Amino acid sequence: MRRFIGSLILGALTLCASLTHAIEPGGVFVIGATGQTGSNFIENLPADIGPVTAFVRPTSNRARLESRNVNFAVGDVQDFDSVRRAILDARPKIVFVAVQSRRGEKSPYAAAAQSVVEPAREAGVSQIIWIGQAGSSKDGVVRTFKDINYALFESALEEMSKAEKSLADSGLPLTIIRVGAIIVERGRGAHPPTGKGYLVEDQNAFGPIAYGDLGRLAAGCAGNDDCIGKVFHATDDTLGAEYVRWRCRRFAENPDADCPG
Ligand SMILES: NC(=O)c1ccc[n+]([C@@H]2O[C@H](COP(=O)([O-])OP(=O)(O)OC[C@H]3O[C@@H](n4cnc5c(N)ncnc54)[C@H](OP(=O)(O)O)[C@@H]3O)[C@@H](O)[C@H]2O)c1
Repeated sequence: MRRFIGSLILGALTLCASLTHAIEPGGVFVIGATGQTGSNFIENLPADIGPVTAFVRPTSNRARLESRNVNFAVGDVQDFDSVRRAILDARPKIVFVAVQSRRGEKSPYAAAAQSVVEPAREAGVSQIIWIGQAGSSKDGVVRTFKDINYALFESALEEMSKAEKSLADSGLPLTIIRVGAIIVERGRGAHPPTGKGYLVEDQNAFGPIAYGDLGRLAAGCAGNDDCIGKVFHATDDTLGAEYVRWRCRRFAENPDADCPG
């Protein structure tokens, strides 16, 4: 039943997306563009969306964007001025954010949200699309998910929740897509897109998703009025075995010995 409703939602989103994708002239500004989610989002954007600006760090590896027609803006979400300058230069209609912590660096989640809000308002941005994490919310960490190892991820979820609060408090048009288990398997890399991932609005949902499907679903929300003001969860019923392995590795003391291959 949930899948059926999800398919309906996805079908509706796809239909509306094809009707409402005329974005131009400032196009889309992508923070985290060199990452897995950001690059898959860019790949799935419709050709007529307008210019795409990839916000990258001086040290970012741009390989995933080599064949893409993007403009680059250089900065760091921890440096508010660099984000502000880049957004006001690009004057985008949509700001997309999918950042991820790097070992040894300060968490980028809350900083990314805080640095985006004021310039987005100033530039007249009509949609912020935020890739979040199940277990986060604008009201704080949600501790009811049996598949989250809170001992490991508490501080990341706190930072993500702060980010969601900043975005919600801004009152700007917002789409949040939370993920549960992104399927990347040891020795196999990122799972290829199945084409079966879908969005649900059930805040208690928690499921697996492949990067390619997440990018496709997020791109389907770009410029889509039906996604504004919504908090989605991205999930895929066809990744059952992969999800079992993902869960095992998150909780096992010795994943290589204890989890199925
Ligand atoms: N539940 C799960 O299974 C799971 C797994 C993975 C990710 N996620 C979530 O999915 C979302 C996207 O993750 P991802 O896997 O696509 O990430 P990713 O591939 O690691 O890419 C992260 C991106 O963020 C950028 N970034 C990091 N710190 C930055 C900073 N200070 N300033 C500017 N850019 C910065 C990176 O740039 P550089 O290349 O310069 O570092 C990179 O482009 C995140 O919200 C993450 O929490 C969930």
